[in-house]
Amino acid sequence: MQRTIRVYRFNPQTDQAPRFDTFTIEVGDTWTVLDALNEIKWHRDGTLTYRRSCRHGICGSCAMMINGRNDLACEKQLSAIKGVITIEPLKEFPVVRDLMVGQEDFFEKLRLIKPWLIRHEAPPTDKERLQSPEDRAVLDGTWECILCGACTSSCPAFWDNQGFLGPAALLKAFRYVGDTRDEGLEARLGILDSKIGVWRCHTIFNCVEACPKALNPTDAILKLRRRLLREKL
Ligand code: FES
Repeated sequence: MQRTIRVYRFNPQTDQAPRFDTFTIEVGDTWTVLDALNEIKWHRDGTLTYRRSCRHGICGSCAMMINGRNDLACEKQLSAIKGVITIEPLKEFPVVRDLMVGQEDFFEKLRLIKPWLIRHEAPPTDKERLQSPEDRAVLDGTWECILCGACTSSCPAFWDNQGFLGPAALLKAFRYVGDTRDEGLEARLGILDSKIGVWRCHTIFNCVEACPKALNPTDAILKLRRRLLREKL
């Protein structure tokens, strides 16, 4: 079967403006968008640039916009898309080249929320910190995030103000703030309660729609807000 693929091309070092290149290729029944990109890169145009690694929806490298929706190229089946397939880089992330975007700012925001367990005991215990199954269950829907950036790229509050931490960083913040073993709310309060923190979200739910892992960053942001309010009161 033949499919037609339009691919966004842009090299900021040499190109005046982005363009789309169109390729018509022979594809297999079970091919994903990533398989199609690999076919183009390996047999038609070796300069096509995009990120990929695991091919199993785990590493988050291959997030891109496919017919206007953010998705993982390695998970999106060509058979699930009708007609011409248009592939673009994640919206509002700086284009490094073609489908590859800069992620420095995205990961810097993640660092700001201190994505690790914070404890104050001294000296540190060498015992396992136990948690009840109920407390552990609170974290479901947070730890599964693969940091692909699909949610943040689809967030209108981020488009409006790129200082906003964004849904990915805030979902990760709840993963730690909601952990009964964590003692780091105070250390994170400044950033979460700031102008770029939880209050910047307008509950538009684009992030929920965009998440390839079916997570709900908006719900995590609302829980963070409740937790901050309780803390402040
Ligand atoms: S290549 Fe790793 S998530 Fe797609």
